[in-house]
This record gives sequence, structure tokens and C-alpha cells, in this order.
Amino acid sequence: VKRRTTAELALLGPAPRVLRQQWLYDELRAAIVDGRLARGAQLPATRDLARQCGVSRGTAVAVFEQLRSEGYLVGRIGAGTYVSATFPEELPPHSRGPAARADAAARPRVSRFASRLSPVQTRIADVPRPFLPEPAIEEFPITLWARMAGRCLRGATRSMLRNADPRGYRPLRQAIAEYVGASRGVACTAEQVLVVSGIQHGLDITTRVLLDSRHRVCVEDPCYPVVAAMFTAAGATVVPVGVDDEGLDIEQAKRWCARPSLIYVTPAHQFPLGSTLSLRRRIQLTSWAHATGAWIFEDDYDSEYRFSGPPIAALKATDPHDRVVFSGSFSKVLLPALRLGYLVVPRTLVEAFAAARQHIDGHPSVIDQAVMCEFLTQGHFGRHLRRMRELYATRLARLRDATDRLLRGAFTLSDIDAGLHVTAWLAPDLNAERLAQDALAHDVHAIPLSRFVLRRSRPQGLLLGFAAYDRAQIDHGVERLAIALERLARKTGAG
Ligand SMILES: Cc1ncc(COP(=O)(O)O)c(C=O)c1O
Repeated sequence: VKRRTTAELALLGPAPRVLRQQWLYDELRAAIVDGRLARGAQLPATRDLARQCGVSRGTAVAVFEQLRSEGYLVGRIGAGTYVSATFPEELPPHSRGPAARADAAARPRVSRFASRLSPVQTRIADVPRPFLPEPAIEEFPITLWARMAGRCLRGATRSMLRNADPRGYRPLRQAIAEYVGASRGVACTAEQVLVVSGIQHGLDITTRVLLDSRHRVCVEDPCYPVVAAMFTAAGATVVPVGVDDEGLDIEQAKRWCARPSLIYVTPAHQFPLGSTLSLRRRIQLTSWAHATGAWIFEDDYDSEYRFSGPPIAALKATDPHDRVVFSGSFSKVLLPALRLGYLVVPRTLVEAFAAARQHIDGHPSVIDQAVMCEFLTQGHFGRHLRRMRELYATRLARLRDATDRLLRGAFTLSDIDAGLHVTAWLAPDLNAERLAQDALAHDVHAIPLSRFVLRRSRPQGLLLGFAAYDRAQIDHGVERLAIALERLARKTGAG
């Protein structure tokens, strides 16, 4: 049955350095494979799609041709193009077209999970490139860490060097339980703490423990794209729900996502927009989860960097029903390369999480955990955090000053209380995607907000990280943004 699609396609914006043809191909193929574009649905005309996606018509035609030759699309360009009723991977090998057969031979057969993932982007930048939302790596006390690592290794006991508890090194779990108790109001025991290699790893374990194929997951829109991609790849149905100044819109969530299995939120400061989940919504959210039997995944990344406003406890601190899986990370607070983070899981889930961990990768590296434990318990962590909070506050002020001087009228920086980035809202006549591309040509990385949008219309904003850059780098970055802006104005004026 052929069906006409009238709605615009919601595609994630391209990542830096991905060719637009590759991006459009990946996005359309993903939309087809994961069912956002139903079988038999008519695709927009290439001309309309090209305009909508900001690519040339030739690019759109080439992408359609490729997907048609692979068997994902049928029909002729000009006479209507439709999503195939049967996908190439579902056909017996002999009945696939020659191009699809050649393509299948070149590409190994992988699982449905693997075929739904986006390709790896290797970003190697030895020079700081404003304005990525990264921490100031050179401020990390590397000599101190190295000294402590040496001491930990030399003093390692036999039991430390053998296989260990899948939840992690007990003394570190104890230190984390005390830390989240004091700083985030999360009352828990070391038994509930799982050391993981970052929040992303925590999400992976959570997905395996709590989700089955076709379970519904309520996700903030916009959000960190890896999160939605992981749920989708696991076969769950992602239901994007809007956010506003009070965080996730719970009423909308209830209407759009009846009986979710999991609700993913960033209550401390919404990623990427920065709002804090209000007290009223916190109560609504935990009651809703309790009533529907849903679990909540609380992504508390970066909450340590709060510059203004009163400190706000974690959602888990005020959850009377023990439905929240709380997650934190040392990636941004210390070093991205550490790959260390933690989960605090509801009491009833401790065993399931520990068993999953044991079956996935055994346990985390004890050596790194032992150093992290000393760093926390000897007060170095708190000192580093205080120092970074001050430094980052001055860098944020510098970014505000520089944009005010050079980009006034074109950029409005959002008010933020926490985090390592700020949203720059653009004047209505500016296109964030195009500006970001031009800025990249000037070595400035300003990520368009559209990159984080799942379903809602594309907001014209850019995400500007400020923490990793000193005064001169911030000034230089803003000057280059101003140049990119001027060029764009000239181009669009001329066109
Ligand atoms: C909102 C959000 N959650 C989770 C992560 C991943 O955190 P980790 O490095 O601890 O895996 C990021 C990384 O940027 C993020 O922005």
C-alpha cells in the first residue's frame, strides 16, 4: 500500500566533517530501517527534500538513487519515490538486485542493533578548538595523579589485583556514596553504587536490564543524540517530548507516551538547553513513574558546575518510590580520557545490574578506581572542583563580554546556572546550520542546536562551550564567528 507523506522529515543535523551526501544517506536509511518512515510511505520530491535539508538537488537525487539500488526505495524519480515493502536484508540473497548484492558482499552482515548505529566520528584535535563543550584538560593535576597512581600500584594488595566485584572497587563505591549523599542529597549505600566507564556505559547497562524490544522510552527533545540512538538501536521505541523553562513537559509526556518503560531526564540542567526541572515537575514525574511502573534514568552529568542559583538536590533525592537510576560522570569534572562514572540504582535492581555487569565485561579496571578513590577521599576532588568552578565562571563571563562586543544583535546568550556550555540564540534571519558550517571553515566549532533535536522544529541556535578556552582563545573564537557571520550575510545578501 502506497502512502503519501505530508509531514517534513525530522532528521538529525550533520556531524562535523561528515559529507552532506553521506549524512543524508545515513539519516534516510536509519529513518527507513527503524520505521520512522513506514513501508510504502511516499518520500518528498528531491527538490523539496534538498531545500528542507540544505543540500543541492543533485545530492538528494544521488542519495535516492543509492537507496533505490540497495532496495530500500522503489519508484522513479519524478514519478514518486516510496519506501519498499520489503528491505534487502529480508530478501533471500538471489532475489536482491545486482547493486545490492555487490553492496552486501562488500559489507559484512551485522545485527539489527549494529546496522542502526551511526558511524564513528574520530575527532582528534590537539589544539583547543573553541567552542566545543569540553573541560579544561590542561588544568587537571596530572603530576599529582601520576604520583598517586604510582603509590596505588606499588601498594596494591593481592586481592586488589585479582578479579573483583562487578559493581566496582568497594572503597570507591563507598566514597561515591558519601560524595553523592553530601553533594547531591542522594541517600544510598555502597551496595547501590556501580562504577561504570561513563554515563554512556551506565545507559547501556540500564537499557539491557530494563528494556525489551518495542518498549517505550520517553526522552527529552532536544537531547544528547547518543542517548536516543542507543535506545533505538536496542529496539525500543523512542518518544520525544518537549522541554521548556521548567524542564521536561510532564503533561505532554503523559499525553504522548502512555505507559513508558523508561523516562530519560537531565533534571539538574537540561541538555542542551540548560533549564532546571522545577520542583512541581519533579513531584509530577516521580508520581507518574510510580503510577505507570516506569523507571527514570537521571543523567546528572556536569551538575557539579553550578555557577549561580541555589544548589539543587538530585531528582533521586526526592523520589519517595525508589524508581530512579541516578548517573554521574567524572568525564567533564576531571578528564574525558578517564572514562569513569557511576550509577546509583534502586535497591530492588542491585542484583540485576550487578549480574548484567558481570556478563558484559566482568568489572571495571581496579587500578584506575583505586586512584580515583584516593583522589576523592583525600580532598583533591573537592579542591579541583572549586578551582574549576571559579575558572569556568570567569570564562563564561569573558564569552558573554566578547559576544556582547562583537555579536550584539545577532547572538543572544541564554542565562545558565550550570554546565560547560551556553546556547546562543540567533537573530530570526540567521540559519544556524549554515553559520556553523562557515564557522568551521574558520576553525570554530559551534554546534547547531538542530543536531540535538529529535522531532520538534529546528531552533536557530548554536551551542558554545566555554570551559576549555582561555581569554585569548575565547576572544579569537568570537572574532572568527563574527567574520563567519559577515560572510554569511554577504552570501545570502548576494544570493
Ligand atoms: C547529557 C550528556 N549525558 C551523558 C554524556 C556522556 O557522558 P560520559 O562521558 O560519562 O559517558 C554526555 C557527554 O557529553 C552528555 O552531554
